[in-house]
Amino acid sequence: MSPRGSDDSVSYGCRASMHNAAIPPESYGKALGDTPGAACVWGVGHIGYNTLIRLAEVGIAGRGLDIDAQRVEAVNDGRIPFSGGVEWLGEEAVTLSRTGSISATTPDDRTAYETALVHFVSVPTELDGQPWLEALERVTGQILDTCGPHRVTPPLIIVESTLVPGITDRVVLTAARDRGLAQGVHVLVAGSLGSGGGGPLGLVIRRSVWRPNAGRSWA
Ligand SMILES: NC(=O)c1ccc[n+]([C@@H]2O[C@H](COP(=O)([O-])OP(=O)(O)OC[C@H]3O[C@@H](n4cnc5c(N)ncnc54)[C@H](O)[C@@H]3O)[C@@H](O)[C@H]2O)c1
Repeated sequence: MSPRGSDDSVSYGCRASMHNAAIPPESYGKALGDTPGAACVWGVGHIGYNTLIRLAEVGIAGRGLDIDAQRVEAVNDGRIPFSGGVEWLGEEAVTLSRTGSISATTPDDRTAYETALVHFVSVPTELDGQPWLEALERVTGQILDTCGPHRVTPPLIIVESTLVPGITDRVVLTAARDRGLAQGVHVLVAGSLGSGGGGPLGLVIRRSVWRPNAGRSWA
């Protein structure tokens, strides 16, 4: 029985969310810390690598996924994968990079992400100064193709990329619906702290993952 009893369908704005999920949406942040291999970060650039460092800081070993093989190699060598990284992330990040708790691979290695619990998406959303959604659409498709009724616990997708309000829902939730996947049942989707997204459930998720949780905070 959930702590919120039979009102879950109302609280989360989605039908049956609690009945298929082994982890309540508000507990994903804690599960992230408690489950080895739970965190994937798509794009190991400025935002994505910063997320990996923030996770490492609280003892969570995240896996980066990037189409840039040189960046992947740098991460696995314990180096910050872009220039100016020390100024951007601070000296402490250099130490954390070398602990061996951060790894990366390319997205063609589906086994690296197909069972992940939380996907932080930090791919570019601009090209030549214009909004550009191809990378987000591609990554979203790759993650959603790991979802479905066979998964007891729906994976969580948090879009950290910069998007104007409404785009997370338009891109990610539409792609989920096109695959017959329902928010809160087969997948959980939330936008960033800044841009929102995912409806009432997205808010529950953002609070779960980004606020101090079980003594951990990396916001
Ligand atoms: N840099 C900032 O100050 C900042 C601040 C807030 C938000 N953002 C937003 O965060 C997002 C990422 O920005 P960034 O500065 O980290 O970009 P970045 O260029 O530093 O890193 C993006 C990474 O994504 C990888 N990538 C591209 N397509 C991919 C795919 N299909 N699968 C996997 N990886 C892929 C790239 O190879 C690159 O390593 C953007 O939406 C940006 O607007 C950036």
